[in-house]
Amino acid sequence: MVSTAIAIHQPKAVKRSDEVVIIGGGLAGLFCALKLAPKAVTVLAAAPIGRGASSAWAQAGIAAAVGEGDTIESHVQDTIIAGDGIVDEEIIRTMATEASARIFDLLGYGVPFDRDLEGHLAVSREAAHSQSRIVRVRGDMAGRAIMEALVASVRRTPSIRVLEGYVVEDLIVEDGRVTGVIARDKAGAGEELHRITGSNVVMATGGVGHLYEVTTNPTEARGGGIGMAARAGARMADMEFVQFHPTAINVGKDPAPLATEALRGHGATLHNRDGVRFMLPLHKDAELAPRDVVARGIFAEVKAGRGAFLDCRTAVPDFAAEFPTVFGYCQEAGIDPAREMIPVVPAAHYFMGGIWTDIDGRSSLPGFWACGECTSTGAHGANRLASNSLLEAVVFSARIAETLKAEIGPDAPADWQDGSITSTEHLMEKDHPNMALLRQTMSANLGVLRDGEGMRSALRTILRLARDSHSVRFDNVITTAKLIAVCALNRTESRGGHFRTDFPAEDAAWKRRTLLTLGQAHGIIPDLLES
Ligand code: SIN
Repeated sequence: MVSTAIAIHQPKAVKRSDEVVIIGGGLAGLFCALKLAPKAVTVLAAAPIGRGASSAWAQAGIAAAVGEGDTIESHVQDTIIAGDGIVDEEIIRTMATEASARIFDLLGYGVPFDRDLEGHLAVSREAAHSQSRIVRVRGDMAGRAIMEALVASVRRTPSIRVLEGYVVEDLIVEDGRVTGVIARDKAGAGEELHRITGSNVVMATGGVGHLYEVTTNPTEARGGGIGMAARAGARMADMEFVQFHPTAINVGKDPAPLATEALRGHGATLHNRDGVRFMLPLHKDAELAPRDVVARGIFAEVKAGRGAFLDCRTAVPDFAAEFPTVFGYCQEAGIDPAREMIPVVPAAHYFMGGIWTDIDGRSSLPGFWACGECTSTGAHGANRLASNSLLEAVVFSARIAETLKAEIGPDAPADWQDGSITSTEHLMEKDHPNMALLRQTMSANLGVLRDGEGMRSALRTILRLARDSHSVRFDNVITTAKLIAVCALNRTESRGGHFRTDFPAEDAAWKRRTLLTLGQAHGIIPDLLES
């Protein structure tokens, strides 16, 4: 995995053989680092921590059965139904059970969750949840408030060393065990490679949205960590399942701002340019149908040139107060949601696939763990239930921390003192010259609707781009794209977020997760291209 031709050196801070190395400065990575305290931890982040993290943009909140009349079992059942037959029941039961404890932790780190007049946590309702169970902050500001609180907690925790502006390019694998990482500073523009080793490595690098032309994810979410793990030999799971959020605001911005599902929960309706409320004939729950159904409904209108628009005019009378984040996005785009409808389009939003992990966040490679969106724990099946993503991130990053503490034992509390480094000369990672073509290929052929012919053509393009990569970082990205294409082509049915126009029905024979390594994926490519 490691290129040896280039000079490699240690970053200047102290090295400890027992440190845990965490890749990623988003919710999962920071929560894991905090839960590991006082163990020594190094967090590597391509951008300043909290920035470049999808979690910071989450508008809804965290699902937890903490409201009156709600139960863990009801949360479990709603998730199983949304996941369309392939949710891992043990995983979701664990996640739903540990939700309240993790909310309590977040309160301890200073997250100002909304409360009712009696001081209880206020909970709201979202599509496909049978109960009000979304714990929120000031309407649609949960992600931002959670990340602000965690970043502040990390900065005052002496056992955590933060290396910002460090882009990890490769895992170091020695005798089959992951023992560290190779990273480049200056947001990937640095000339030297840094070798950072530790007792264990935890990956928390987020999702893949930026592999698509229209996405609600930050540019950093391009699947690099997932591809890196696959290249190191880790087992992957459910790589065909990408979730498209129905209502990104369609104003030509990249990334596309999100208009939260909670707006439809409040009664906002969808119309085309002719004024037709097009979801009514498509599903009994109309705008509150499962996310993939609404995404396909909107996609059809946009494709047909009729456009799709979210009408919040009567449903959300006090828009600015109730949905300040979406209101801000509308204002920036010159839209007044009190008087005008909001143009919307489906956008790549969440990845159900990723690095396979067990119930404690352990990957198939010794010494290597993963949490957050870069993993596929089985909690979401083929289609994630809204607001279960932040929950999954905190539950499994905490489980990793607990397991590691038990496995590598208590050590002397660490104090990195001046160990943290911010390498901020270049804050944005530069795109590979073929990134735009890759995004176009993924959107055209592996998006909301897929078919065999389009996916074969996409796979051929991806294989060509992989041959012409000449960049380790792009190798990581293209590996993830390749695995998405292979797994999508291989699954000859439609289920959840994976909809094939040539196989539009579910097939009971496919009621199972996809598990494979990159080597196994390479083995089936010739047959898939012939099929
Ligand atoms: C939303 O606010 O619509 C997104 C919530 C989620 O993806 O969980």
